[in-house]
Amino acid sequence: MIIDKLKIITSNFDIPPDRIDLSIGQPGTSLLPLAALAQAAEHCLTQDNSYILAYGAEQGNWYFHHALAGFLSEQYKLSVDPDYLFTTTGISQGLDFICRLFTRPGDTIFVEKPTYSLALGIFADCRLNLVGLPMDENGVVIEAIEEELAHQTPAFFYTIPTFHNPTGCTLSAARRKKLVQLSREHNFLIVADEVYQLLAYSGTPPPSMAKYTDSATVLSLGSFSKILAPGLRLGWIQTHPDLMKSLTTNGLVYSGGGLNPFTSAIVQSAFELGLQEKQLFHLQKVYWKRQNALNSALRENLNDSVSFVESGGGFFTWLQLPQRVDTEKLIPEAHQHDVSFAPGSFFSPRRDLKNYMRLSFAYYEEPELVVGAKRLAAVINRQLF
Ligand SMILES: Cc1ncc(COP(=O)(O)O)c(C=O)c1O
Repeated sequence: MIIDKLKIITSNFDIPPDRIDLSIGQPGTSLLPLAALAQAAEHCLTQDNSYILAYGAEQGNWYFHHALAGFLSEQYKLSVDPDYLFTTTGISQGLDFICRLFTRPGDTIFVEKPTYSLALGIFADCRLNLVGLPMDENGVVIEAIEEELAHQTPAFFYTIPTFHNPTGCTLSAARRKKLVQLSREHNFLIVADEVYQLLAYSGTPPPSMAKYTDSATVLSLGSFSKILAPGLRLGWIQTHPDLMKSLTTNGLVYSGGGLNPFTSAIVQSAFELGLQEKQLFHLQKVYWKRQNALNSALRENLNDSVSFVESGGGFFTWLQLPQRVDTEKLIPEAHQHDVSFAPGSFFSPRRDLKNYMRLSFAYYEEPELVVGAKRLAAVINRQLF
């Protein structure tokens, strides 16, 4: 079927058709809003606004930022100033850009341990030294940051504060405040990757780190990848004018203008037509069901010595297995049983955390998630006896 081929091409995974690959942390194709974007594109392209096809303003399109600020103010329950917004082509590009502008090869940055595996690649490209800081169920441990700060100051601390990838944990409000205080006292930046901030399914997480952008140490990065479509390659950085200056005065935007003016104009229409809000609401409902389906099946089928925290948002469930298990070594057997997962070592700068694995409930529908959980539980349980 064409759609199966597309799945493989667009997800960059070579997945055999019968395998349920719980490592895939992206929306399934049935959740990509083709009709809504066709409507937004038609609306956008019939507005007599040919400027959207010209080079864009360095910071991004002001009309788009105005619409985005309105949406974020409502969703974050905070007042977001359009002048604090910079358009990116997604968080990955935003991270790469921040590394280039605010660090030099050989600089040290702090990251959570574990952290987003693919950010590790961006930091490696920029030849940064990484210090991994421990987390508990309330996010990064502040005492561990303080201890490390006694020895060295990082160029920045990269954090995924809400519904963290891979653990699903959320940084508490008190720790957020303390973190900002430390960044001011020790003069380092906080790079907050808030890709899952709006994907809350039960309860309300603490406010986005955008709350602290009046401190010129905080950059809050958002993306449309998980709330609309990753193929748009569109995101934003929200930050103080002092830091904005570096984002808008550099060779890249001088040469090419602001990033992605055309797509941002289409998404502006999606805001104006209420389509983004509708899609977000739809996704929250769908993912909530998928998360429950996966986690219930895991609870029913897994040995008691395997544990995980219920996150109530985001894309992931992070399993902790007994210390003696190396999950990377379970992959061949998992593949024999038509299931897969991401081993814990992928998410650590030192490739430890071997007794963990990350599962995503975003890509598959509930029946497949249940089958996948059963297959995986059988592989894990066999290993434990
Ligand atoms: C924590 C985190 N940051 C960034 C990304 C990628 O974001 P984007 O598509 O906006 O580059 C992902 C995608 O999985 C992610 O989990």
